[in-house]
Amino acid sequence: MNISVPKGTKDVLPEDSYKWQFIEESARQVAKAFNIREIRTPVFEHTELFLRGVGETTDVVTKEMYTFEDKGGRSITLKPEGTAGTARMFIENGLANQPLPLKAFYITPCYRYERPQAGRLREFHQFGIEVFGSAQPECDAEVIFAASSFLNKIGVKSTRLELNSIGCKSCRAEYNKALKDYFRPHLDAMCSTCRDRFEKNPLRMIDCKEEGCKKITANAPKILDYLCDDCRSHFEKVKSLLTGLGVEYTINPDIVRGLDYYTRTVFEFVSTDIGAQGTVCGGGRYDKLISELGGGEVPAIGFAAGLERLILLMDNTSVPFPEKPVPAIYIGGMDENSRSKAFELVSKLRQSGVAAECDLMARSVKAQLKYADKCGAKFVAIIGETELESGKVDIKKMADGTRENIALADICEYIGKNN
Ligand code: HAM
Repeated sequence: MNISVPKGTKDVLPEDSYKWQFIEESARQVAKAFNIREIRTPVFEHTELFLRGVGETTDVVTKEMYTFEDKGGRSITLKPEGTAGTARMFIENGLANQPLPLKAFYITPCYRYERPQAGRLREFHQFGIEVFGSAQPECDAEVIFAASSFLNKIGVKSTRLELNSIGCKSCRAEYNKALKDYFRPHLDAMCSTCRDRFEKNPLRMIDCKEEGCKKITANAPKILDYLCDDCRSHFEKVKSLLTGLGVEYTINPDIVRGLDYYTRTVFEFVSTDIGAQGTVCGGGRYDKLISELGGGEVPAIGFAAGLERLILLMDNTSVPFPEKPVPAIYIGGMDENSRSKAFELVSKLRQSGVAAECDLMARSVKAQLKYADKCGAKFVAIIGETELESGKVDIKKMADGTRENIALADICEYIGKNN
């Protein structure tokens, strides 16, 4: 019987969930400030959506999808990313008829059958933003600024923003021709995937991770030299808007991204502190995806950040998370009667929203104190016969050991004031 966690997946343990909550809460706050509302789309979609959306020459589609036939004989795929499902939702619900731009964000699990390593999992989570309806460079700048604001908000300062433009259909045609002319004499020395991509999508050859191919690719023509006038001026405007916003970037003409839907602006926030999988956030414009999926001509742009990679980066670079949540008070009991009283008081505190804890294990007072300490309770009170008779109890402040004698009936008020 195999009951261990599947390869490439991870549990989030109770002592770590506060990190996730902090990142997710920060994402929600940034989205709110940018007037972006949350969406939730299914974890699985028809396989066809990703074939057409993400692209048949991508690694994600050719090697990494979790695809299966359901009991009704449909081909279903667990979402490898959030954009295609969001685009489907946009089209299917007629959201193009709502005031545009339509801005959406999601926090979602994603699934890719990859070789697991640090920062690369088979189940991972993305915070993503997608904006539909605007082709303006201001929209590119806004989306990139939202990503950068999110990273700043969680305290990540060590990433580098790398920026590129991969042009539109017309400049891409020119560029693909130049790439083919360049790669043709080298094809024999390149991997089979590159040879396949040579015909289908030469741009994708730039993304190959094989050492031999990388050497050849290093001297390949650069897309930035092939941009048409419109794409060039769009890119210039995006750059100047980012500079105006104080967002630093470097131009990296080798960023083509791993998914086929991109046009014009593409970007990645990259870290050197988490090993080979250094991209914590990636995105770009995808002006043709909606029409390719059967919607109208709706330009769009977005990004997604990987939450596991962000946590890894924050841990590796000692970016502080907020304090772990702890109970405000632990109320223990010396015998059955006092434990009942403790239970009653703790229940009252909880109803008024105060995190409180008591004994559920019938432990000795010594063991209860040990547990209270391990929980990190800020105050501790132990009730016994004397306390029940006098109606008062000593409340110990754990930070400095000071005690105050408080009426049992006033505990709630006392904790409210001192917590
Ligand atoms: P992506 O670059 O494939 O883009 O993924 C975005 C982020 O998800 C990556 O930068 C990384 O942090 C995280 N990620 C990807 N694969 C894994 C993995 N196997 N394990 C852990 N983390 C991973 C997209 O998915 C696009 N949908 C982004 C986008 C949105 N473009 C426009 N809108």
